[in-house]
Amino acid sequence: MKQTLMSGMRPTGKLHLGHYIGVLSNWVNLQKNYDCYFGVADLHALTTKYDNTKDLQQNIIDVVLDWISCGIDPNVSTIYVQSKIPQVCQLHLLLSMITPQNWVERDPTLKDMAKILRNKSENTSSVSYGLIGYPVLMSTDILIFNAQYVPVGIDQIAHIEITRDIARRFNNIYNTDFFVEPKPLLTHVPMLLGIDGQKMGKSFHNDIKISDDEKTTEEKILKAITDPNRIKKTDSGNIENCQVAFKYYKAFAKDNQELLTQVKAECHNAEIGCRDCKKRLACLINKKFEPIRQKRNELSLNIDMLKQIIDEGNKKVQIKNQIVLDKVNEIMHMYK
Ligand code: TRP
Ligand code: SF4
Repeated sequence: MKQTLMSGMRPTGKLHLGHYIGVLSNWVNLQKNYDCYFGVADLHALTTKYDNTKDLQQNIIDVVLDWISCGIDPNVSTIYVQSKIPQVCQLHLLLSMITPQNWVERDPTLKDMAKILRNKSENTSSVSYGLIGYPVLMSTDILIFNAQYVPVGIDQIAHIEITRDIARRFNNIYNTDFFVEPKPLLTHVPMLLGIDGQKMGKSFHNDIKISDDEKTTEEKILKAITDPNRIKKTDSGNIENCQVAFKYYKAFAKDNQELLTQVKAECHNAEIGCRDCKKRLACLINKKFEPIRQKRNELSLNIDMLKQIIDEGNKKVQIKNQIVLDKVNEIMHMYK
């Protein structure tokens, strides 16, 4: 029997190339070897965006469209929406009782999120009780499957650590070995930067969407930072100093050593200008995403079918998660 793997993403809208390189392509490859569950973490989205929910449904649809068009196969893996699983809410409450307050308070990702929120509104009430529970909710997502593996980006590792701590604490308190301590599965690719060289993100306006059209992709790539020492076309460049463009080459042509060697030489010998070099890069990326974008366009014409896929996933997950929840209630001697 295959081992269980689960992961999730917050529905932040259309996904970008950083999601693809850092997480999604990893998920796609893992599908064959594990029993996979991929959840859209809409309750997690509420921890910071509780006052702006009008796009939430569309964002969920957009994330699932991106997942499936990039190769998550609903006939192989299960796709679901977190808030449609009441078992998650129940287990979250139970686990919140056994989680020490100082464990959540020292969560570094949470600290960052709270800081951003506070700076944005200069209003201390913007950090909600629910946000403090973020790591417990994420632990719940994982533990309610008793999943062995969780493929995530490096920024989520601290959360997996807390999940392991909570599993161990539960097992100790109730003298059981019921909860599995899940292991992270890291993608060994560095995080893809935004075209300006900062962390890629929608709010920084430096991202390229998986679903962007070819022209938009090229326009954005042409803005990507190159070797700052290479001012004129006749200057010799150095790929190691090419802060964004060459990193994208490495991410999207990692199996094409020949091309990488060629770019390195042409850059060093000033045989190509940065503009042409980036045009070629845009071509490469557009070619890679052409079938994905086409599939996405087709899928988006049939949202009813997409919703059906999600509904079926929700039902399957509810049944599976209820088994774990029943067992937890039993272990905790809750009222029967
Ligand atoms: N916190 C994750 C993120 O921001 C999303 C997430 C929610 C998740 N639940 C999860 C990831 C469970 C892995 C497993 O990307
Ligand atoms: Fe970067 Fe290409 Fe310009 Fe070299 S030629 S600095 S690799 S964009």
